[in-house]
Order: sequence, then C-alpha cells, then structure tokens
Amino acid sequence: MQSDDDIGASRDRVAAQLVGRERELELTFAAVAAGRDIVLEGPPGTSKTTMLRAITAEWGIPLLFVEGNADLTPSKLVGHHNPARVLREDYNADNFVDGPLVAAMRQGGFLYIEEFNRAPEDTLNTLLTAMADRSIAIPRVGTVEALPTFRVIASMNPYDNVGTTRLSTSVLDRLNRLAVDYQDGPAEERIAALRTGASGELGDRLVIDAVAVTRATRAHPDVRQGSSVRGAIDCVLIAEQLAPLRRLADPFDDRYRELVYDAMVVSLSGRIQLDEAAETSPERVLREIWEDHFILLPAAAAPG
Ligand SMILES: Nc1ncnc2c1ncn2[C@@H]1O[C@H](COP(=O)(O)OP(=O)(O)O)[C@@H](O)[C@H]1O
Ligand SMILES: [Mg+2]
Repeated sequence: MQSDDDIGASRDRVAAQLVGRERELELTFAAVAAGRDIVLEGPPGTSKTTMLRAITAEWGIPLLFVEGNADLTPSKLVGHHNPARVLREDYNADNFVDGPLVAAMRQGGFLYIEEFNRAPEDTLNTLLTAMADRSIAIPRVGTVEALPTFRVIASMNPYDNVGTTRLSTSVLDRLNRLAVDYQDGPAEERIAALRTGASGELGDRLVIDAVAVTRATRAHPDVRQGSSVRGAIDCVLIAEQLAPLRRLADPFDDRYRELVYDAMVVSLSGRIQLDEAAETSPERVLREIWEDHFILLPAAAAPG
C-alpha cells in the first residue's frame, strides 16, 4: 500500500476540496484505505457525496450510485442477460449487462448505496456476500473478481422511519459506521457562499440570513426533519434573482426582509417535514422562523 507520507498528502489534497469535515474525512479515509467498507449515517446534505467524490477523484477510480429502495432487487444490483441477445445467441458472458455492483467490482470503484436500509433483505445478502468474498459468482457468466480498490459505501438517514428495514445484527456486524451530522453555522455559510458564488453587500447578507433560517428549520418544535444546506443554497440563488426583478439592490432596502421570506417559501417549504401530530403548515412554520429571525431579534435584523 501507500507509505505514511503518501496517505497524509493524499488526505490533504482531498481535504482542500471540502469545507470543514476534517474528522469525518480522516475517519472515512482511514476506513477505505484499510480496505474496508463503511456506512455513513446522517441526514441529507451533510457532505457524504461530496467526500466520496473527492476521495474517488483522488484515487482515480469511478463512483457508482445506487438508490436503495424496495425495487432494488438482487438482479438490478448484479446485472442481467440482455433478453434479445439471449434469444439469438443463448446465454453467454458477452450478453450479460453489468449492474452497478459488478461494474464497481470490475472497475475497482466505490459502489455508493444511498438509503441502504430501504433495500430488500435478499439484496442486502447478495451485497454482503460480494463484500466478504471480494468476488461474485454469476450463473452462465463465471466468477468476477473485484479489483483491489472496490469498496461498498452505504448511507442511511437516521431521521428516516418510513419504509425502512431494521438492519439485522448479522448485517450490522459486517459494517463499519460513521455518524455524520450537520456542520456548524460558519461552515454552512462558507458552503453556501462557495456553491452560490454570492458576494457583495447583498450576497453576503443573503448567505448569513439564508443559513440562519435554514438552520432554524431543524430546531422548530413542529418539524420532524428540517432542511439541509441545500435549502440555504437555493434560498440565496432564488433571492439573488428576485432582487433585480424587484429592483432591489441592497439589504438596507425596506423590502429586503419580505424578499427573503419569499425566497424561503420557494426554497424551504418542500424541504421540511412536519411532525405528523403538528397542526400547522410549512408556510406557517417558515413565517414563524422568519419573524424570530428578523423581528424578534433586532440584532440579527440590523443589516451589516
Ligand atoms: N464540506 C463541504 N464542502 C463543500 N461543499 C459542500 C460540503 N458539504 C456539502 N456541500 C454542498 O452541499 C450540497 C449537499 O452536499 P452532499 O455532499 O451532496 O450531501 P449528502 O450526500 O450528504 O446528501 C452539495 O451542493 C455540496 O456541494
Ligand atoms: Mg448524497
């Protein structure tokens, strides 16, 4: 494997592409460098994909995505024989169409299974066998050996409780796990600024306000799951387009707060999941958050 210096330099190059996340990156990096597979457990928008893209780019290997859901059968994961060609040629290795698992094994890539705990039990078993053996036997194709950089990375959302399987202890015993949570406010501001390119007096203010109200959706008592940083990113982008439409040039304009509210409704109302018992609407929750942010807290309301 790599020397100690190489792995450190490699980690540093990956870290340079991320805002924050030093600890999560180091631990994920150590797990995959050890030849191991891992589950990243965290809500959406917490840098899971961003980290994996940066690591696979550094290693020069592909990252293959699969969505875990009830339709993810073992044959969707492994692959299938092309039916038209089977009729003409009978079954052979050439007319087998690789599924993402076999493609990742052959190419030495990372197979990233999002919402891992939504996949059916028999699919999980197929996957676990491939992970343990680093090879897979496919009827009428033969045995496919994985290249050494093949890894399985799974993700799960801890807030997700509809349609998920409780993983059995035999599945859990075969996986490493890292919990990934939301980053702090300043890191989310840097992410929102980076991803929107927002700058100037208006852009800077929008980033601060959009991140603050987005974070507040996660703490509201009627909300089961609030918005990720993606909501803040879109709030900034939408507000930046609304501003010239309304001929609003700076955050000192009287209409600035209403502009932020309108951008919030579009960017955040679909991204918050209310508690089943809550008798309210996303718009009402957002209005409360907006009032708390701009009106009840004069310090936050004063621009600049
Ligand atoms: N640490 C980070 N550095 C830079 N951008 C980030 C970071 N974390 C998240 N982002 C940005 O936020 C969005 C969601 O991140 P992503 O990694 O796709 O989350 P996840 O895979 O956990 O749902 C993307 O647009 C991504 O570019
Ligand atoms: Mg993702």
